[in-house]
Amino acid sequence: MKEISVGLIGCGTVGTGVAKILLEKQPLISSRTGLAIRLKRIADIDTKRDRGLAIPAGVMTADAGAVIGDPDIDIIVELVGGVTIARDLMLRAIDSGKHIVTANKALLSAHGDRIFPLAAEKGVDIAYEASVGGCMPIIRTIRESLVADRIDSIRGILNGTCNYILTKITEEHCPFAVALKEAQEKGFAEADPTLDIDGLDTAHKLAILNTIGFGMTIRLEDIYVEGIRAITPLDIEFAEAFGYRIKLLAISKQTDDGVEARIHPTMIPRGNLLSDVAGSLNAVEVSGDCVGDMILYGRGAGMMPTASAVVSDIVDLARNIAAGIRQRVPALSYRPEAIRPLPVLPMDNLVTRYYFRFTATDRPGVLSKIAGILGNHHISIQSVHQKGQDTGGQVPLVMLSHLAREKDVKQALAEIVQLDIVTDQPVLIRIEDTGGH
Ligand code: HSE
Repeated sequence: MKEISVGLIGCGTVGTGVAKILLEKQPLISSRTGLAIRLKRIADIDTKRDRGLAIPAGVMTADAGAVIGDPDIDIIVELVGGVTIARDLMLRAIDSGKHIVTANKALLSAHGDRIFPLAAEKGVDIAYEASVGGCMPIIRTIRESLVADRIDSIRGILNGTCNYILTKITEEHCPFAVALKEAQEKGFAEADPTLDIDGLDTAHKLAILNTIGFGMTIRLEDIYVEGIRAITPLDIEFAEAFGYRIKLLAISKQTDDGVEARIHPTMIPRGNLLSDVAGSLNAVEVSGDCVGDMILYGRGAGMMPTASAVVSDIVDLARNIAAGIRQRVPALSYRPEAIRPLPVLPMDNLVTRYYFRFTATDRPGVLSKIAGILGNHHISIQSVHQKGQDTGGQVPLVMLSHLAREKDVKQALAEIVQLDIVTDQPVLIRIEDTGGH
């Protein structure tokens, strides 16, 4: 049986899961591949911790350089995380002719412009299935299964931390801070949750999906990103009353003028499959011109689901090595010369439906004044909800619009906020109630 040797750099949670699979599931893997995939070295700064694994003597080292420099190793699995040390290690490994498996979305989205060209030059493969959506095979689906499709849109719930928090607020009507604290206590959110709740982790993932889905280069700063910190139980209750759920949705759509790339809390109609994705689960919907809409659903994080995706990449590359082929599928789904910088459409051009919540004085004429300003900016109201009692106090006034342009919405809200009958910043949540395209 042909042996393929793997070096793992970074043996934290996911790395331990990968080691566990490679050490304990050889019979299954070789019965499916006909290969002996051997975990030859593991590098981690902590060589002593009990990982609950029988790691053979001589496998563990603190020296990542020794793993990269081992001439027997065919595939380097980078699970260090971060974008500095990991980048240097990866570039060194590629330079040494090693094939790469990584889960590092931050690294690929920030430094892909150096990593992928170097890999092409050196003739090595880079696989990164676990970087987006944990165990869901979205990269393989787009790169291979949908090769015949023009991808029209990609919409995803790609961050389990945010989805856990939003589900918690929906189910228990608790404030954001309480839901975040519980997510941290249960291990669903990091001690510093910024990357997740401010949407940046989702942006890293959407950048990768945009590149492989549309064959485009995209900079992180071209993606509009709004996180979930401002979501309140009140807005979630109103959303429910109107038949919607609020999700942090990553949305990319390809149009004749360019590409929409945006991440923001989004109202999705109940009944749409994405609205039912609860807790820490992820889902991504891809619309192609041949397949129509399709959805992947599963665990976007966690030791064994993510490790499963990493091992699927190791197996892919091992099969290529055994067959004596390289770069069977272009790393970024399109041949490098076919990838072009498509225009990313400015948010001001977005046309969608909106939910507005104003905090306004409860007295006659308030509704018509606000609706009048919206009308002056070509924003037509579809439904209104107000539970006032004409007491002169402050009440929430909620409106759902028909299709409107973001630029008009911003101008109208800037005018409305100046009214003395409006006492707080208006809340705006975008609505997605069509299919993917
Ligand atoms: N932190 C991510 C999440 C998982 O909460 O979904 C890794 O990308």
